[in-house]
Amino acid sequence: MTNSVLITGGNKGLGFEAARRLSEQGWTIFLGSRNEGRGKEAADKLADGGVNVVMVPLDVTSDESVTEAVRLVRAHTDRLDVLINNAGAPGNAVTPANATADELHAVYDTNVYGPVRVTHAFLPLLRAADHPRVVMVSSAIGSFAVQADPAQAATKLHELAYSSSKAALNMITVRYAQAHPEIKFNAVTPGEVANRKFAATDMNNHTGQLTVTEGTDPIIKLATLDPDGPTGIFIDRLGPVSW
Ligand SMILES: NC(=O)c1ccc[n+]([C@@H]2O[C@H](COP(=O)([O-])OP(=O)(O)OC[C@H]3O[C@@H](n4cnc5c(N)ncnc54)[C@H](OP(=O)(O)O)[C@@H]3O)[C@@H](O)[C@H]2O)c1
Repeated sequence: MTNSVLITGGNKGLGFEAARRLSEQGWTIFLGSRNEGRGKEAADKLADGGVNVVMVPLDVTSDESVTEAVRLVRAHTDRLDVLINNAGAPGNAVTPANATADELHAVYDTNVYGPVRVTHAFLPLLRAADHPRVVMVSSAIGSFAVQADPAQAATKLHELAYSSSKAALNMITVRYAQAHPEIKFNAVTPGEVANRKFAATDMNNHTGQLTVTEGTDPIIKLATLDPDGPTGIFIDRLGPVSW
């Protein structure tokens, strides 16, 4: 039976590359995009190659949008094998002294409440799959171990919103994994923590040293885990990453 996957923020960057790579394996792709035009353009690119792709209008900050997304996916399938919570917002790199609750709230709405909104809404479809998997696209910047290592450039980036949102997402991943052993909940960082590398995308103005294909390696690994694979882990493309 073919696998199906919903990818939030699937219209570009790592989300689109994950969609492209999983479609190469014959998967049905539900390509989430908050902007319908950009989503359609991305879905058309895959469809041109013969992929079974459905563009799903999906703004992870909106309950209504998420509800509509569930309705649309349900019209095509009665189960979802994999959910990739990929959509992310970098925030404005506001320093701790200048950060306000509003600044944090905007970033958390996408990076923390977004994955919870989408996961909660899609749990029934995930539970209907034989061995469901949820991949949380987190960041090394949200790792306490990375932030405790002065050799990591992330420690010199003095901002609050993005890093703490990804730390929250890491804990949320662990808590889901503990409570739902029937679903694999794992987190990735798209870079190479040991080599202090990340993937070149719009989010970092293409300053990353890795390609999007390299950046999606851990996403693909966790999306395609065997039924006896791990849950509650955090990895990059080289292996396990410390929380
Ligand atoms: N690149 C890296 O090395 C790196 C490192 C660590 C973590 N990450 C994480 O990887 C994920 C993907 O980022 P990327 O590097 O591929 O950046 P990107 O190319 O900027 O892609 C971000 C995606 O998220 C979507 N998005 C933002 N807010 C959204 C919302 N409210 N609802 C739905 N979609 C929304 C964007 O949609 P629009 O096109 O409409 O803006 C876009 O599709 C993010 O979670 C990011 O934090 C990336």
